[in-house]
Amino acid sequence: MDQLLVHGGSTLKGAVNISGSKNASLPILAATLLTEDPCIIRRVPDVSDTNYMVQILNALGADVERSSGTVRITAGDVSHVAPYEQVRRMRASICVMGPLLARHGRAVVSLPGGCVIGDRPVDLHLRGMEALGAKVEFEGGNIHLSAPDGLRGAEMDLRGGSGPTVLGTGNVMMAACLADGVTVIESAAAEPEVVDLADFLTGMGARITGAGTRRITIEGVPALHGVEHTVIPDRIEAGTFMAAAALAGEGVTLRRVRRDHMEAVTRALEASGHSVAFNDRGDTCKVNRGGSPSGVELETAPYPAYPTDMQAQMTALLATTPGISVVKDTIFPQRFMHCAELKRMGADIKVDHGVAVVRGVERLSAAPVMASDLRASAALVLAALTASGSTVINRLYHIDRGYEHIDEKLEALGADVERVKV
Ligand code: EPU
Repeated sequence: MDQLLVHGGSTLKGAVNISGSKNASLPILAATLLTEDPCIIRRVPDVSDTNYMVQILNALGADVERSSGTVRITAGDVSHVAPYEQVRRMRASICVMGPLLARHGRAVVSLPGGCVIGDRPVDLHLRGMEALGAKVEFEGGNIHLSAPDGLRGAEMDLRGGSGPTVLGTGNVMMAACLADGVTVIESAAAEPEVVDLADFLTGMGARITGAGTRRITIEGVPALHGVEHTVIPDRIEAGTFMAAAALAGEGVTLRRVRRDHMEAVTRALEASGHSVAFNDRGDTCKVNRGGSPSGVELETAPYPAYPTDMQAQMTALLATTPGISVVKDTIFPQRFMHCAELKRMGADIKVDHGVAVVRGVERLSAAPVMASDLRASAALVLAALTASGSTVINRLYHIDRGYEHIDEKLEALGADVERVKV
């Protein structure tokens, strides 16, 4: 199990290339199950979550070749049963459900287990599949779906208690591509990852309009074909490096980003007194730490609002930002595990019912800390960059799920980090 040793106090400078989006890649990889033709996907980040998805596709019988960011998948003769051993490792494996059901008229997928960032039900995914005419049953920890006469287009509302569902919208959109008739998803998620999936499906011959809005319409087609696609930049990785630059930088440039996807994070950094300057094309930005940063109020909510996946990293930045900050997570109110670890490094944070009140301290100090999930681990790495002493971050496998070579990228910017095998 790897650890990351971060020797605090270095200044970050220079440029970093942002990788392709993990959360766009995962449903797009699953969508290749919708056709027998080869699909080529570029800029798939080399992180363990995309590796798990590749393993699931392999286990289902697809032929997968992967070399330096490009994945070629031919899902010729694939099974409709997604095996528990593969599926249990990653919640996002649920998004093979829609494609398998659409392709075979039946699917068996294990129910995803618990998750440290909160209760993550799949009821909305199933509501969508039922609306398309699938029968849903549970047996032995598995979801059995069947639609012997095929799926039928339908109108549905996928709004849950916390708003829309990102993977749920993607899952139903994939199933509806091969359904008979027109499907309308109301209260759809509008995240850029949903739009990228819709672009991929459209490239395969699907008829989709409205992706990126709260109403997506899908006109079913009899078959889809192969496609070549380049995944969008990872807006959460970009946001993480923007926060690192605001915390410990002296002018850090991020390349391969999309300004339109970074608006909420840019606004939050600017409100805190830092500067973010994009080039005219909006694909490169330079972040400079502000001279007198101050605390902010933040609330996570569905896109285009501030993303929950950037809550922990911003909390780490605010831990040493003068003044009082208030951070509310409306999507995952329990997603504050990183705060207990930040407090072990000297942060002054009180968490109550999904709200963290952060009183900025001058400096954090190194301590052995434990990563609890992907974004929490990123927050600990950020905090360690300016802490006094050397921080040991345990359970690094969490960060490797979603950040491509984060230690190498930080080192290239001047951070003093070491990956240690223990
Ligand atoms: N929800 C339901 N029922 C459902 C599905 C979701 O009640 O059937 C609730 C959830 O409990 C949550 C809210 O709806 O309160 C939103 O969850 P959503 O379904 O949108 O989450 P997801 O699609 O499972 C994706 C990302 C997460 C990100 C969330 C929210 C991927 C692979 N995962 O998850 O990313 O936090 O959207 O934006 O795209 C991460 O990358 O670290 C990560 C956790």
